[in-house]
Amino acid sequence: MRRFREERSGRVTDRLRLSCRRRGAEMEGLLWRVLPLLALLSSLLLYSYFSGFKTSHNDCSLLPYSHYWIRSKRIVTPEGVIAGAVEVKGRNITSVVKEEDWQGISKGERVLDYGEAVVMPGLIDVHAHLDDPGRSDWEGFPSGTKAAAAGGITTLVDMPLNNFPSTVSTETLELKIKAAEKNIYVDVGFWGGLVPDNAYNSSALEALLQAGVLGLKSFMCPSGIDDFPMTDASHIKEGLSVLAKYRRPLLVHAEVQPDSISMPDLDGDDPRSYYTYLKSRPPLMEEGAIRELLTVSKDTRPGGRSEGAHLHVVHLSDASSSLELIEEAKRNGESVTVETCPHYLAFSAEDIQDGDTRFKCAPPIRDAANKEKLWEALMAGKIDMLSSDHSPTVPELKLLRDGNFLRAWGGISSLQFVLPVTWTYGRKYGLTLEQMAHWWSKRPAELAGQRLKGAIVTGNYADIVVWDPDTEFYLDDNYPVFIKHPTISAYMGRRLAGKVLATFLTGNLVYEEGKHAPAACGATILAK
Ligand SMILES: *[C@@H]1O[C@H](CO)[C@@H](O)[C@H](O)[C@H]1NC(C)=O
Ligand SMILES: *[C@@H]1O[C@H](CO)[C@@H](O)[C@H](O)[C@H]1NC(C)=O
Ligand SMILES: [Zn+2]
Repeated sequence: MRRFREERSGRVTDRLRLSCRRRGAEMEGLLWRVLPLLALLSSLLLYSYFSGFKTSHNDCSLLPYSHYWIRSKRIVTPEGVIAGAVEVKGRNITSVVKEEDWQGISKGERVLDYGEAVVMPGLIDVHAHLDDPGRSDWEGFPSGTKAAAAGGITTLVDMPLNNFPSTVSTETLELKIKAAEKNIYVDVGFWGGLVPDNAYNSSALEALLQAGVLGLKSFMCPSGIDDFPMTDASHIKEGLSVLAKYRRPLLVHAEVQPDSISMPDLDGDDPRSYYTYLKSRPPLMEEGAIRELLTVSKDTRPGGRSEGAHLHVVHLSDASSSLELIEEAKRNGESVTVETCPHYLAFSAEDIQDGDTRFKCAPPIRDAANKEKLWEALMAGKIDMLSSDHSPTVPELKLLRDGNFLRAWGGISSLQFVLPVTWTYGRKYGLTLEQMAHWWSKRPAELAGQRLKGAIVTGNYADIVVWDPDTEFYLDDNYPVFIKHPTISAYMGRRLAGKVLATFLTGNLVYEEGKHAPAACGATILAK
């Protein structure tokens, strides 16, 4: 478009020059002075013509208008579930009214009436690996964010590893941002990596934080990715002191390395048996890491060396000692939170067939008794939020035919399914719609520092998911699945409840009933 604009203004200039010669020489001086102005005016005219054309032909949304009402009998707001309507204008929620007051609103306005379906803030997934750039054959921004939109996720924060190179510097963050631009169907923020290379280099860390990562992530055991080495408690202590200044969190994969504790002997155990894998990553690995972590989390207390920083334990699986330690840290005023993932809440070791490596992840899915305790902790508010930890790869690396649990890629593919999975498996524990919004929107928004997201309130971005808790469906070949490799997902073939009907991102209807808006209009989110 810029080239075209320049050609047009060039032509205008030529014509003016010709007429110029016919008139007297004294006119020339004056004309030369107004020429730049005329050129500028013509560019502006063309620019407004084209931008006008772009918005009237809005590929970002499946709706042809940008001011409308979303109406439902079940809108999940911070004040509870209400019957009423949400007004959306441009990118924002401009009012939320109860049914009684809605009656007075002038008719003739555009209304999307969803009846009994649930209208909830869009989900915020603070833990996903989209593997872009460098390993986009594993997932990639386009398919990953299409899956997110189809699953009711309007914001996700991408992990700094599994893409290549890992996101551990300003240069590698630049690559990430470039890969995301014009390729994302939902909003995407980025965690940076805290690794031994930058942990003691505060200027490198500050540069990364200034470049916009929402916080940092580190591993206390080998990550499985060569250019993302593990950190110990002293690296973490240093990282926290830099994060404190920016008031951003550190997310930690809390398992210690297997050789640092006495490990069971696996000699002679069948690598196709899930129990062999389970035995290789005992709860003691999580407990040991959290114990170590809590020696530095003290720094986050009021008046501590790293006050303002925050420590977040990702994907907790062990529901016993590990959780008690985290509880204790919270009681002591440390700034600590913890997440778990739907696969720890849906599955248990007893259900996993020999050789079914779709279920391999770290820390591992533990037994049914542990799962019950995780639900109990979640319902009691001891686990702060949920995340997907969507961590796909190519089917070849899952070794589905071979079934070797010790050699297969560890990671569960789940991005599109987290909403129905949480709902389906949580119903028997009495899970409420408010809790869904709390774990999937409100608390993740706080962790990621997103003030205008995570709740349906006036002034927030219109990031909204509409879903039907009562519709059940099979995840079979007829179901529109958008993750790149559905065959490696442990959820395929399951019957789930809670169907996503529509997803709105900053006012754009980006997904409805199997269909996405044509253009990828998600924004990259950079911290300021
Ligand atoms: C949306 O809200 C932002 C502030 O959060 C404001 O700057 C913008 O003008 C609002 N847009 C509309 C269409 O109301
Ligand atoms: C710290 O990081 C900066 C920026 O990446 C780099 O230029 C510098 O050499 C590093 N310092 C040390 C001591 O490694
Ligand atoms: Zn992960």
